[in-house]
Amino acid sequence: MTAIKPVEWLGDRLMIIDQTRLPQHEIYLELADVHQVAEAIRSLKVRGAPAIGVAAAYGIALGAQQIETQDLEDFRKEYKLVSDEIAATRPTARNLFMAVEQMDTAVGRASDVISAREYLVAEAEKIHDAEIDSTLRIAQNGATLIKDGDTILTHCNTGPLATTGSGTALGVIIEAFHQGKKIEVLATETRPLCQGARLTAWELKREHVPFRLITDSMAGHFMKQARVDMVVVGADRIAKNGDTANKIGTYSIAVLAHENGVPFYIAAPSTTFDERIDKGDEIVIEERSPDEVTHLYGKRTAPEGIEVFNPAFDVTPARYITGFITEKGISKP
Ligand code: MRU
Repeated sequence: MTAIKPVEWLGDRLMIIDQTRLPQHEIYLELADVHQVAEAIRSLKVRGAPAIGVAAAYGIALGAQQIETQDLEDFRKEYKLVSDEIAATRPTARNLFMAVEQMDTAVGRASDVISAREYLVAEAEKIHDAEIDSTLRIAQNGATLIKDGDTILTHCNTGPLATTGSGTALGVIIEAFHQGKKIEVLATETRPLCQGARLTAWELKREHVPFRLITDSMAGHFMKQARVDMVVVGADRIAKNGDTANKIGTYSIAVLAHENGVPFYIAAPSTTFDERIDKGDEIVIEERSPDEVTHLYGKRTAPEGIEVFNPAFDVTPARYITGFITEKGISKP
């Protein structure tokens, strides 16, 4: 089976798999400028915190290649517009801002426009390689927590699609399965955009990992029946005290896990940890279009003219988190 490349740099453009079309259609898009990359991030064609960071870095490198000046000062002014456009796409994933900051530092080192462009491509490739490397280690570290016979519940999509590497939470699960452990997965649908039903189910099926798809509201029922041994999910931003922002619904699952004595793990690379944020309340939560709630798979399911809330993420307090699985190992909040 060929490995999926959710994000691939082609030298003068960026290729992504359009995650909004999966699982029905496996369509690759070639993004020709920074505006197309920004739109792809905003519309979740490329999504998942680490994959957003990688696409953001390449988007900036692409935008910088297309700045038409040989004057470094002018180049820096234009570069700022490119980097600001990418930074404004989605507010919650720390990886996006980490990538923007690394790219800004790289451009700051350049002494002329040619080296600035080269440094930016090299930095984006470095960010990409680092995510591939960290997610591989996360998968290996996390798999040690999974025992033969375990049933693991996961939320949203955190596999190769979301990371450009092995995956975070889903990487842990897939690695345990490849090690020969007999496991079963409960994958939540993940309303409103159904990343679980569309993407996690697609990735688990490709890997032949035994799983059942459940709706988000079934999680408590299965935990109460003692049919879940462990929960592992990803993260979009982790504050200094361990409070963790992840896909909306994660907090409810964490509380249910606590209530039912089920260990609850977060799997995330260091690029998701935000040293500058003390606690979860400071994390900016993205509010998305009401259409995502009033519609399901593009079809209206709610009456016209109603008010909607649509936060894309919630924050799980550190006290509900059993441990963090990172590329460095497993740690307590
Ligand atoms: O809105 P999305 O689909 O980008 O949200 C993704 C998640 O919340 C993931 O759980 C998170 O980014 C971790 S991905 C390894």
